[in-house]
Amino acid sequence: MSESRVFVTRRIPEPGLALLREAGVRLEICQRIEEEGVTREQLLAGVRSCDVLLPLLTEPIDPEVLGANDRLLGVAQMAVGYNNVDVAAATERGIPVSNTPGVLTETTADCTWAMLLAVARRVPQAHNYMVEGRYKLWGPNLFLGGDVGVGASGRRKVLGIVGYGRIGQAVAKRSIGFDMDVLAFDPFNRQAIDADPRVRWAELPELLGKSDFITLHTPLTQGTHHLIGEAELRRMQRTAYLVNAARGPVVDEKALVIALREGWIAGAALDVYEDEPAMAPGLAELPNAVLLPHIASASHDTRGKMAEIAAQNALCHLRRERAPNVVNPEVYDTEAYRRRTARS
Ligand code: GLV
Repeated sequence: MSESRVFVTRRIPEPGLALLREAGVRLEICQRIEEEGVTREQLLAGVRSCDVLLPLLTEPIDPEVLGANDRLLGVAQMAVGYNNVDVAAATERGIPVSNTPGVLTETTADCTWAMLLAVARRVPQAHNYMVEGRYKLWGPNLFLGGDVGVGASGRRKVLGIVGYGRIGQAVAKRSIGFDMDVLAFDPFNRQAIDADPRVRWAELPELLGKSDFITLHTPLTQGTHHLIGEAELRRMQRTAYLVNAARGPVVDEKALVIALREGWIAGAALDVYEDEPAMAPGLAELPNAVLLPHIASASHDTRGKMAEIAAQNALCHLRRERAPNVVNPEVYDTEAYRRRTARS
Protein backbone atom coordinates (compact mmCIF):
# COMPACT_ATOMS: atom_id res chain seq x y z
CA MET A 1 0.00 0.00 0.00
CA SER A 2 3.03 2.27 0.34
CA GLU A 3 2.46 3.84 -3.05
CA SER A 4 -1.27 4.26 -2.46
CA ARG A 5 -2.52 7.70 -1.63
CA VAL A 6 -5.67 8.75 0.19
CA PHE A 7 -6.66 12.39 0.08
CA VAL A 8 -8.49 13.28 3.30
CA THR A 9 -10.13 16.64 2.75
CA ARG A 10 -10.42 17.63 6.42
CA ARG A 11 -8.85 16.48 9.67
CA ILE A 12 -11.00 13.47 10.61
CA PRO A 13 -10.82 11.85 14.08
CA GLU A 14 -7.62 9.95 14.83
CA PRO A 15 -8.96 6.35 14.76
CA GLY A 16 -9.59 6.71 11.02
CA LEU A 17 -6.20 8.27 10.31
CA ALA A 18 -4.47 5.62 12.44
CA LEU A 19 -6.08 2.82 10.45
CA LEU A 20 -4.88 4.30 7.17
CA ARG A 21 -1.37 4.90 8.51
CA GLU A 22 -1.16 1.34 9.85
CA ALA A 23 -2.08 0.07 6.40
CA GLY A 24 0.93 1.97 5.05
CA VAL A 25 -1.10 4.40 2.98
CA ARG A 26 0.36 7.79 2.06
CA LEU A 27 -2.00 10.26 3.64
CA GLU A 28 -2.61 13.75 2.38
CA ILE A 29 -4.69 15.70 4.89
CA CYS A 30 -5.65 18.95 3.34
CA GLN A 31 -7.08 20.92 6.22
CA ARG A 32 -4.80 22.84 8.53
CA ILE A 33 -7.25 24.92 10.57
CA GLU A 34 -10.40 23.26 11.99
CA GLU A 35 -12.85 25.97 11.03
CA GLU A 36 -11.42 26.57 7.60
CA GLY A 37 -12.58 24.19 4.96
CA VAL A 38 -10.97 23.17 1.73
CA THR A 39 -10.94 25.42 -1.30
CA ARG A 40 -12.13 24.20 -4.66
CA GLU A 41 -8.57 24.41 -5.97
CA GLN A 42 -7.23 22.35 -3.05
CA LEU A 43 -9.96 19.77 -3.58
CA LEU A 44 -9.28 19.42 -7.29
CA ALA A 45 -5.50 19.29 -6.79
CA GLY A 46 -5.94 16.66 -4.07
CA VAL A 47 -8.20 14.50 -6.20
CA ARG A 48 -5.80 14.65 -9.14
CA SER A 49 -2.97 13.24 -7.08
CA CYS A 50 -4.74 10.53 -5.03
CA ASP A 51 -6.05 7.02 -5.49
CA VAL A 52 -8.98 7.38 -3.10
CA LEU A 53 -10.79 10.48 -1.90
CA LEU A 54 -12.08 10.67 1.69
CA PRO A 55 -14.36 13.72 1.85
CA LEU A 56 -16.84 15.13 4.33
CA LEU A 57 -20.32 16.44 3.69
CA THR A 58 -18.89 19.95 3.34
CA GLU A 59 -17.34 19.30 -0.08
CA PRO A 60 -19.41 19.08 -3.24
CA ILE A 61 -18.19 15.99 -5.06
CA ASP A 62 -19.58 16.86 -8.48
CA PRO A 63 -18.78 15.75 -12.05
CA GLU A 64 -15.80 18.08 -12.27
CA VAL A 65 -14.22 16.59 -9.14
CA LEU A 66 -15.08 13.04 -10.17
CA GLY A 67 -13.73 13.64 -13.65
CA ALA A 68 -10.46 15.15 -12.44
CA ASN A 69 -8.66 11.82 -12.10
CA ASP A 70 -9.12 8.75 -14.33
CA ARG A 71 -7.32 6.62 -11.75
CA LEU A 72 -9.54 7.52 -8.80
CA LEU A 73 -10.57 4.21 -7.22
CA GLY A 74 -13.30 5.38 -4.89
CA VAL A 75 -14.92 8.04 -2.74
CA ALA A 76 -15.11 7.09 0.95
CA GLN A 77 -17.31 9.74 2.51
CA MET A 78 -17.26 10.13 6.30
CA ALA A 79 -21.01 10.68 6.88
CA VAL A 80 -24.18 8.68 6.53
CA GLY A 81 -25.73 11.32 4.25
CA TYR A 82 -24.12 11.69 0.85
CA ASN A 83 -26.28 14.24 -0.94
CA ASN A 84 -23.09 16.25 -1.56
CA VAL A 85 -21.83 13.47 -3.84
CA ASP A 86 -23.17 13.15 -7.37
CA VAL A 87 -23.56 9.39 -7.14
CA ALA A 88 -25.00 8.99 -10.64
CA ALA A 89 -21.97 10.77 -12.09
CA ALA A 90 -19.67 8.56 -10.01
CA THR A 91 -21.40 5.38 -11.20
CA GLU A 92 -21.19 6.52 -14.81
CA ARG A 93 -17.44 6.96 -14.37
CA GLY A 94 -17.02 3.60 -12.60
CA ILE A 95 -16.26 5.09 -9.18
CA PRO A 96 -17.64 3.36 -6.05
CA VAL A 97 -18.96 5.70 -3.37
CA SER A 98 -19.29 4.65 0.27
CA ASN A 99 -20.72 6.18 3.46
CA THR A 100 -20.72 5.41 7.19
CA PRO A 101 -24.20 4.20 8.13
CA GLY A 102 -25.34 2.53 11.34
CA VAL A 103 -22.77 3.77 13.82
CA LEU A 104 -24.33 7.19 14.25
CA THR A 105 -27.91 6.02 14.73
CA GLU A 106 -28.00 6.07 18.53
CA THR A 107 -26.01 9.29 18.92
CA THR A 108 -28.18 11.10 16.41
CA ALA A 109 -31.35 9.87 18.10
CA ASP A 110 -29.99 11.11 21.45
CA CYS A 111 -29.34 14.54 19.98
CA THR A 112 -32.80 14.64 18.42
CA TRP A 113 -34.22 14.15 21.89
CA ALA A 114 -31.88 16.77 23.35
CA MET A 115 -33.23 19.21 20.74
CA LEU A 116 -36.83 18.20 21.32
CA LEU A 117 -36.57 18.71 25.08
CA ALA A 118 -34.49 21.85 24.71
CA VAL A 119 -36.97 23.59 22.43
CA ALA A 120 -40.03 22.52 24.44
CA ARG A 121 -38.53 23.56 27.79
CA ARG A 122 -36.58 26.51 26.40
CA VAL A 123 -33.31 25.25 27.85
CA PRO A 124 -30.87 27.39 25.80
CA GLN A 125 -32.88 30.56 26.44
CA ALA A 126 -32.96 29.84 30.18
CA HIS A 127 -29.22 29.12 30.18
CA ASN A 128 -28.52 32.43 28.44
CA TYR A 129 -30.71 34.20 31.00
CA MET A 130 -28.51 32.80 33.77
CA VAL A 131 -25.14 33.53 32.23
CA GLU A 132 -26.23 37.02 31.30
CA GLY A 133 -26.95 37.66 35.01
CA ARG A 134 -30.64 38.36 34.42
CA TYR A 135 -32.00 35.98 37.08
CA LYS A 136 -33.03 38.22 39.98
CA LEU A 137 -36.06 36.52 41.48
CA TRP A 138 -37.81 33.19 40.99
CA GLY A 139 -41.17 33.66 39.26
CA PRO A 140 -44.08 31.36 38.42
CA ASN A 141 -44.10 32.53 34.81
CA LEU A 142 -40.40 32.21 34.05
CA PHE A 143 -39.70 30.29 30.84
CA LEU A 144 -42.99 28.47 30.54
CA GLY A 145 -42.77 25.77 27.89
CA GLY A 146 -44.55 22.74 26.52
CA ASP A 147 -44.72 19.33 28.18
CA VAL A 148 -43.12 16.39 26.41
CA GLY A 149 -44.49 13.75 28.74
CA VAL A 150 -48.05 13.73 30.04
CA GLY A 151 -47.41 16.62 32.46
CA ALA A 152 -50.18 17.93 34.68
CA SER A 153 -52.80 17.58 31.96
CA GLY A 154 -52.32 13.83 31.82
CA ARG A 155 -52.59 13.98 28.02
CA ARG A 156 -50.26 11.71 26.08
CA LYS A 157 -48.38 13.74 23.50
CA VAL A 158 -48.04 12.65 19.92
CA LEU A 159 -44.62 12.27 18.36
CA GLY A 160 -44.66 12.36 14.54
CA ILE A 161 -41.61 10.81 12.92
CA VAL A 162 -40.98 11.56 9.26
CA GLY A 163 -38.45 9.07 7.93
CA TYR A 164 -38.58 5.70 9.66
CA GLY A 165 -35.14 4.34 8.86
CA ARG A 166 -32.56 3.47 11.49
CA ILE A 167 -32.53 6.91 13.12
CA GLY A 168 -36.29 7.40 13.06
CA GLN A 169 -36.72 4.02 14.74
CA ALA A 170 -34.15 4.86 17.41
CA VAL A 171 -36.01 8.12 18.09
CA ALA A 172 -39.27 6.17 18.47
CA LYS A 173 -37.66 3.78 20.97
CA ARG A 174 -36.76 6.69 23.23
CA SER A 175 -40.35 7.94 23.34
CA ILE A 176 -41.48 5.02 25.52
CA GLY A 177 -40.23 6.71 28.67
CA PHE A 178 -42.30 9.77 27.86
CA ASP A 179 -45.56 7.85 27.40
CA MET A 180 -46.04 9.23 23.92
CA ASP A 181 -48.13 7.99 21.04
CA VAL A 182 -46.05 7.72 17.90
CA LEU A 183 -47.09 8.32 14.30
CA ALA A 184 -44.67 7.66 11.48
CA PHE A 185 -44.57 8.41 7.78
CA ASP A 186 -42.04 6.90 5.41
CA PRO A 187 -43.10 5.44 2.06
CA PHE A 188 -39.75 3.62 1.83
CA ASN A 189 -40.07 1.96 5.25
CA ARG A 190 -43.76 1.15 5.45
CA GLN A 191 -42.97 -2.42 6.53
CA ALA A 192 -40.89 -1.26 9.49
CA ILE A 193 -43.73 0.99 10.61
CA ASP A 194 -46.39 -1.69 10.25
CA ALA A 195 -44.19 -4.20 12.08
CA ASP A 196 -43.61 -1.88 15.05
CA PRO A 197 -46.35 -2.13 17.70
CA ARG A 198 -45.26 1.18 19.24
CA VAL A 199 -45.98 3.11 16.09
CA ARG A 200 -48.90 3.82 13.78
CA TRP A 201 -48.56 4.71 10.09
CA ALA A 202 -49.98 8.12 9.15
CA GLU A 203 -49.94 9.94 5.85
CA LEU A 204 -48.00 13.17 6.08
CA PRO A 205 -51.02 15.52 6.32
CA GLU A 206 -52.47 13.50 9.21
CA LEU A 207 -49.12 13.31 10.97
CA LEU A 208 -48.63 17.07 10.61
CA GLY A 209 -52.06 17.86 11.98
CA LYS A 210 -52.00 15.48 14.93
CA SER A 211 -48.43 15.62 16.25
CA ASP A 212 -47.21 17.68 19.18
CA PHE A 213 -43.61 17.07 18.10
CA ILE A 214 -42.44 16.33 14.58
CA THR A 215 -38.94 15.02 13.97
CA LEU A 216 -37.39 14.68 10.50
CA HIS A 217 -35.05 11.82 9.56
CA THR A 218 -35.28 11.50 5.78
CA PRO A 219 -32.32 11.62 3.44
CA LEU A 220 -32.24 14.66 1.16
CA THR A 221 -33.45 13.68 -2.30
CA GLN A 222 -35.45 15.44 -4.99
CA GLY A 223 -38.53 13.94 -3.36
CA THR A 224 -37.77 15.31 0.12
CA HIS A 225 -36.57 18.79 -0.89
CA HIS A 226 -38.90 21.25 0.93
CA LEU A 227 -40.99 18.36 2.19
CA ILE A 228 -41.91 20.76 4.97
CA GLY A 229 -42.90 24.05 3.36
CA GLU A 230 -45.49 26.73 4.02
CA ALA A 231 -48.52 24.46 3.49
CA GLU A 232 -47.11 21.78 5.83
CA LEU A 233 -46.17 24.30 8.52
CA ARG A 234 -49.67 25.77 8.34
CA ARG A 235 -51.08 22.28 8.85
CA MET A 236 -49.18 21.81 12.14
CA GLN A 237 -50.79 22.73 15.46
CA ARG A 238 -49.95 26.13 16.94
CA THR A 239 -48.61 24.32 20.02
CA ALA A 240 -46.43 21.92 18.02
CA TYR A 241 -42.64 21.80 17.65
CA LEU A 242 -40.52 20.82 14.66
CA VAL A 243 -37.09 19.16 14.96
CA ASN A 244 -34.79 18.77 11.95
CA ALA A 245 -31.77 16.52 12.39
CA ALA A 246 -31.81 15.36 8.75
CA ARG A 247 -30.73 17.82 6.06
CA GLY A 248 -31.51 21.54 5.87
CA PRO A 249 -33.28 21.64 2.50
CA VAL A 250 -35.91 19.16 3.72
CA VAL A 251 -37.45 22.27 5.32
CA ASP A 252 -38.22 25.52 3.53
CA GLU A 253 -36.26 27.63 6.00
CA LYS A 254 -37.67 31.00 4.91
CA ALA A 255 -41.20 29.69 5.42
CA LEU A 256 -40.14 28.32 8.80
CA VAL A 257 -38.89 31.74 9.93
CA ILE A 258 -42.31 33.21 9.10
CA ALA A 259 -44.08 30.32 10.84
CA LEU A 260 -42.03 30.82 14.00
CA ARG A 261 -42.36 34.60 13.92
CA GLU A 262 -46.11 34.55 13.34
CA GLY A 263 -46.79 31.70 15.76
CA TRP A 264 -48.12 29.11 13.31
CA ILE A 265 -46.13 26.64 15.43
CA ALA A 266 -44.64 26.88 18.93
CA GLY A 267 -40.99 26.32 18.13
CA ALA A 268 -38.34 24.58 16.10
CA ALA A 269 -34.97 22.98 16.80
CA LEU A 270 -32.57 22.71 13.89
CA ASP A 271 -29.24 20.97 13.54
CA VAL A 272 -29.04 21.57 9.77
CA TYR A 273 -29.70 24.49 7.43
CA GLU A 274 -30.72 25.02 3.85
CA ASP A 275 -27.63 26.98 2.95
CA GLU A 276 -25.31 25.65 5.65
CA PRO A 277 -23.53 27.20 7.50
CA ALA A 278 -25.64 30.30 6.72
CA MET A 279 -29.04 30.66 8.33
CA ALA A 280 -32.13 32.18 6.75
CA PRO A 281 -32.47 35.89 7.62
CA GLY A 282 -34.22 36.34 10.94
CA LEU A 283 -33.78 32.76 12.17
CA ALA A 284 -31.06 33.58 14.70
CA GLU A 285 -33.16 36.32 16.31
CA LEU A 286 -36.18 34.13 17.02
CA PRO A 287 -36.84 33.31 20.69
CA ASN A 288 -38.56 30.03 19.81
CA ALA A 289 -35.74 28.48 17.76
CA VAL A 290 -32.97 26.24 19.11
CA LEU A 291 -30.05 26.17 16.70
CA LEU A 292 -27.15 23.71 16.62
CA PRO A 293 -24.16 23.59 14.24
CA HIS A 294 -24.82 20.16 12.66
CA ILE A 295 -23.62 18.13 15.63
CA ALA A 296 -26.23 15.38 15.91
CA SER A 297 -23.64 12.62 15.51
CA ALA A 298 -20.91 14.46 17.40
CA SER A 299 -19.96 12.18 20.27
CA HIS A 300 -16.31 11.19 20.72
CA ASP A 301 -17.11 7.51 20.21
CA THR A 302 -19.36 7.94 17.22
CA ARG A 303 -17.24 10.35 15.26
CA GLY A 304 -14.20 8.12 15.95
CA LYS A 305 -16.10 5.10 14.66
CA MET A 306 -17.34 7.00 11.60
CA ALA A 307 -13.75 7.92 10.76
CA GLU A 308 -12.70 4.29 11.20
CA ILE A 309 -15.47 3.04 8.90
CA ALA A 310 -14.66 5.64 6.27
CA ALA A 311 -11.03 4.51 6.45
CA GLN A 312 -12.01 0.83 6.13
CA ASN A 313 -14.10 1.68 3.07
CA ALA A 314 -11.18 3.68 1.65
CA LEU A 315 -8.87 0.69 2.07
CA CYS A 316 -11.36 -1.53 0.24
CA HIS A 317 -11.54 0.97 -2.62
CA LEU A 318 -7.74 1.00 -2.75
CA ARG A 319 -7.56 -2.80 -2.85
CA ARG A 320 -10.26 -2.86 -5.55
CA GLU A 321 -12.45 -4.87 -3.18
CA ARG A 322 -16.15 -4.40 -2.65
CA ALA A 323 -16.52 -1.75 0.07
CA PRO A 324 -18.88 -2.79 2.91
CA ASN A 325 -20.82 0.47 2.75
CA VAL A 326 -20.91 1.12 -0.96
CA VAL A 327 -24.00 3.16 -1.91
CA ASN A 328 -23.79 2.42 -5.66
CA PRO A 329 -23.08 -1.35 -5.72
CA GLU A 330 -24.19 -1.55 -9.36
CA VAL A 331 -20.92 0.21 -10.20
CA TYR A 332 -19.00 -3.05 -9.76
CA ASP A 333 -20.73 -4.53 -12.81
CA THR A 334 -19.86 -1.67 -15.13
CA GLU A 335 -17.29 -1.62 -17.87
CA ALA A 336 -16.23 1.81 -16.59
CA TYR A 337 -15.28 0.24 -13.22
CA ARG A 338 -13.40 -2.62 -14.87
CA ARG A 339 -11.44 -0.19 -17.02
CA ARG A 340 -10.71 2.11 -14.10
CA THR A 341 -9.51 -0.68 -11.83
CA ALA A 342 -7.54 -2.67 -14.40
CA ARG A 343 -3.95 -2.71 -13.14
CA SER A 344 -1.34 -1.54 -15.57
C1 GLV B 1 -24.28 13.80 9.22
O1 GLV B 1 -25.07 14.64 8.96
C2 GLV B 1 -24.11 12.63 8.44
O2 GLV B 1 -24.76 12.51 7.38
O3 GLV B 1 -23.31 11.78 8.82
